[in-house]
Amino acid sequence: MIKQAIIPLAGLGTRLLPLTSIMAKELLPINGKPGIEYILDECIEAGIKEIIFIISKKKEVIKKYFYKDNFYKSIIKRKKDQRIKEEYKKILFYKKKIKFVYQNYPLGTGDAVLKTKKYIKDDYFLMLLPDDLIMKKNCSKEMIKVHKKYKSSVMASMKVKKNTVNRWGIYSTSKNLDKKNFIISNVVEKPDIKKAPSNNAVIGRYILPKNIFNILKNQVSGKGGEIHITDAIKALIQNNFKFVGHKFSGKYLDCGTMKGYIKSTLEINKI
Ligand code: G1P
Repeated sequence: MIKQAIIPLAGLGTRLLPLTSIMAKELLPINGKPGIEYILDECIEAGIKEIIFIISKKKEVIKKYFYKDNFYKSIIKRKKDQRIKEEYKKILFYKKKIKFVYQNYPLGTGDAVLKTKKYIKDDYFLMLLPDDLIMKKNCSKEMIKVHKKYKSSVMASMKVKKNTVNRWGIYSTSKNLDKKNFIISNVVEKPDIKKAPSNNAVIGRYILPKNIFNILKNQVSGKGGEIHITDAIKALIQNNFKFVGHKFSGKYLDCGTMKGYIKSTLEINKI
């Protein structure tokens, strides 16, 4: 069973400036609800018991969002408002499942994952990137099923426009397992448009093996000077670890760019 999930949240959110100059991008509302709550709901519904938030000193506002007990209690005492009571109950429910670890320098997703090393108990864990919302169908739940069936690591995947491949992790496949799942033979972080092996992109849901920590420990920085999770996955594949790409069926919303963020509010409203 996959019981733990990790969520890297220490990123600076520069693609969403100026909104992120004083606000964590994961707390920005999407149709009246902070983006991070959609991600939490997906995890919890998929059966995840513990969620590890990787934050930084600059992103402590995320922790504060879940620790406003005295404030809620005093408001509820004065106002007796049912809606606020329900919201507080929800916050308490989330809080019980969340643990916080720190990544104070934004050295990349791989470095963020490494910070969770001593907390991961089982052989596999789930990682969700908060910029990527997947609605309508629970992608994590689907991927956990795929993991059980093929006894492998899993990455969410989607075809993207050829002229945008340099914004994603792009992979090649070696074998189709069924209509929605295939074996990944290589993956490269944000390739040049001319050199990209395909237009199959990695989307921010991963079921990773604990062994990835051994790779990350010694990994040198890659593209843009960052430690990328994609490079660690590539090394695992080269060491014969099985990675399955899963074509998810939900609706993808890219909340990490300004254009995508604005669009996501409109799209969620329609669902
Ligand atoms: C990250 C990953 C990239 C992946 C993308 C999905 O990039 O590094 O491989 O395709 O998420 O959203 P980022 O969005 O952090 O630039």
